[in-house]
Amino acid sequence: MYIIGIETSCDETAAAVVSADEGGKLKLLSDAVASQVEMHRLWGGVVPELAGRAHIEAISHVTARALKEAGIGIGDVGCVAVTSFPGLIGALLVGVNFAKTLAYANNIPLVPVNHIYAHVAAVTLTEEPPDPPFIAFAVSGGHTSIYIVRSYTDFEEIGTTRDDAAGEAFDKVGRVIGMPYPAGAEMDRAACSGNPEAYAFPSPAIKDPSFDFSFSGLKTAALNLINSSRQKGIEADRCDIAASFTKAVCDGICGKVRNAVETTGIRKIVLAGGVSANSHLRAAMAEECARNGARLWVLPKQLCGDNGAMVAALGYYNFMAGMTADEFLNAYTD
Ligand code: KG4
Ligand code: ZN
Repeated sequence: MYIIGIETSCDETAAAVVSADEGGKLKLLSDAVASQVEMHRLWGGVVPELAGRAHIEAISHVTARALKEAGIGIGDVGCVAVTSFPGLIGALLVGVNFAKTLAYANNIPLVPVNHIYAHVAAVTLTEEPPDPPFIAFAVSGGHTSIYIVRSYTDFEEIGTTRDDAAGEAFDKVGRVIGMPYPAGAEMDRAACSGNPEAYAFPSPAIKDPSFDFSFSGLKTAALNLINSSRQKGIEADRCDIAASFTKAVCDGICGKVRNAVETTGIRKIVLAGGVSANSHLRAAMAEECARNGARLWVLPKQLCGDNGAMVAALGYYNFMAGMTADEFLNAYTD
């Protein structure tokens, strides 16, 4: 069967077609994305109303492109999957309303999808995806959570951030040292040339047995250091800031992942979400997993950020579990 996935939760308008064979093996056939990043960059971050308006303009074209590149027509599609939460409400409503109309007009089942779980389900589009149970770490611009995934429709959140998300912290620190939005990828590059020991930043891992994080203390410490140096007429080295900040993030995340492996005894780890594209985090997680005898799955970079493919992948599992929606489907912030 063919599944079309539609994603409009933040600043990418995306649609993709995935096929599922009789054994449930998924294959990505097309992956169309219209990014709004250039537009939001002017404002230093996502402007929700502009995001909703840009989704409205792009959604029909992006969907048509996904179908065309997959070489199928809408009549071939067996299921329309759409991100219905969490995300920016005005952005989500565009995708949900579009998907609802597409499904209703063509008499195709409609399947709502959780955006964060979809980031994790993108791993099923890789060559040798893990069989659940596994531990998933979803780290993005809006979320930082650890789950026990018992099946692709059974996620138990065992830890999360108590304030900012990791990506949000990368973006804010990067912005103050002059990097355009979203700063994550440039922070990654800058960190390659910096000294990770230059500054001792606080860990984002909450110092208790929980699997929770707090990124606001780390972010504030970095911002204070940059600003107090400026008051003294000194510009802190941006590569050192990026490297030291990234080290604090990696150490904090790896520590909690180590606890999760020890506590649950599960030795399969999936790293997903926009921040999982970070080369230092990927390397640190690979080392941590090797030390703990755990196997790590990371996604190709194209599947780390927001995309329609992950929505189609999770949509398939939700559909098979009967998790369809009717014409009353709505969107929710979280
Ligand atoms: O998953 P995503 O595309 O959107 C959300 O669901 O939030 O994640 C976007 C976040 C942004 O904060 C962006 O700066 C960050 O992922 N990001 C990175 C890297 N590439 C993207 N953060 C650190 N290193 C990267 N290489
Ligand atoms: Zn995302």
